[in-house]
Amino acid sequence: MRCIYFSKCGSCKLYEEGYEAQFFKKVNIIKDEFREFEIENFELFKSKDKNFRDRAEFRIVHDKNHINYAMHKLTKDGLLPIKSCQIVNPMISAAMKILKKEIEKKDILREKLFSIEFLSSSKKDLLTTLIYHKKLDSKWQEEAFKLSDKLDIKIVGRSRKVKIVIKEEFINEELLIDNKIYKFRYFENSFTQPNSFINRQMISWAKKHSKDFKGDLLELYCGHGNFTIPLSENFNKVLATEISKTSIKSAVLNTKLNDIENITFVRLSSEEISSALNKEREFRRLKGIDLDSFNFKTVLVDPPRAGLDKKTRDFIKKFQNIIYISCNPMTLKRDLKELCLDFKIEKFALFDQFPYTTHLESGVILKRQKR
Ligand SMILES: C[S@@+](CC[C@H](N)C(=O)[O-])C[C@H]1O[C@@H](n2cnc3c(N)ncnc32)[C@H](O)[C@@H]1O
Repeated sequence: MRCIYFSKCGSCKLYEEGYEAQFFKKVNIIKDEFREFEIENFELFKSKDKNFRDRAEFRIVHDKNHINYAMHKLTKDGLLPIKSCQIVNPMISAAMKILKKEIEKKDILREKLFSIEFLSSSKKDLLTTLIYHKKLDSKWQEEAFKLSDKLDIKIVGRSRKVKIVIKEEFINEELLIDNKIYKFRYFENSFTQPNSFINRQMISWAKKHSKDFKGDLLELYCGHGNFTIPLSENFNKVLATEISKTSIKSAVLNTKLNDIENITFVRLSSEEISSALNKEREFRRLKGIDLDSFNFKTVLVDPPRAGLDKKTRDFIKKFQNIIYISCNPMTLKRDLKELCLDFKIEKFALFDQFPYTTHLESGVILKRQKR
């Protein structure tokens, strides 16, 4: 991919040598970083080299009656107006152009518009969040409705403490994983994996390597059930937990969309579910759920960049198998150093979720060695 904004735009921090070379450079850095773990084989998953982002956020800059999308400059000193972005998928790319034109036509939609977010799916569903530095009134709502009809997109308007939903606040997605289609609803303002091409490979990889684990699965940081739903086929029962109310609402809905009956979702932080299963604390949110009926052998964690907290790290040492999905190699390394006192790394995969950045997503399968 070649982009006229390379070396100026802060989104793509890596821009020299082309995608292939960048990918292998990143892989070699990780291999070096994890040398002490003596991993024999890293499974590698490359991204598409353009149009790979299925969600994106842009700041808006104003020039009289015109607006432009903008990104932070690579030099971090202000915003860089851009006319297009090649890392977003074609649906977002097309919407960016037409939405800009339509918003420019109406003062009420344009004035004090601060940023625009796009969330899209392979089902051609598109939701855009318009974030303002002004109050949104019924006049705005009326114009946003017309815009939504005209462009056939869902709109959420946000300003301080206000959220206005035009039509629906979610999109419908279908993920094809190993010849099977899984249905999902992604809600606005909740976590979704940005690169669905890589996401499908991460799910397939985790499913393949947990196929013989048997018993029940405990999942922490489950989001809207992205891994939970496809992986539930490998286990008798699943208990999946997560801190976000919106994600749990969406996860419960997603099990119904896929006719799955062996998953229980509960809104609990990783610290809370660790306390509950250690019998240190009782939670009203667990009423009616018999924790003793689970025969957990496997735990799946997919924490935010901070990795696992100390309590969760200690807690997951009780399991036979750990599936660890990580978006930050540094916190993964810290956690593995401790876990590998009792566990052996069986599989290690690197997924390029974020091309043109220094980030790499990892997947690790650990098996307990000592009692
Ligand atoms: C990297 S995302 C992964 C979500 C999901 N596995 C997926 O693939 O879409 C991390 C998730 O952890 C949740 N989270 C953050 N802190 C948490 C905590 N202390 N306990 C439980 N969940 C947490 C976030 O809301 C987010 O959904």
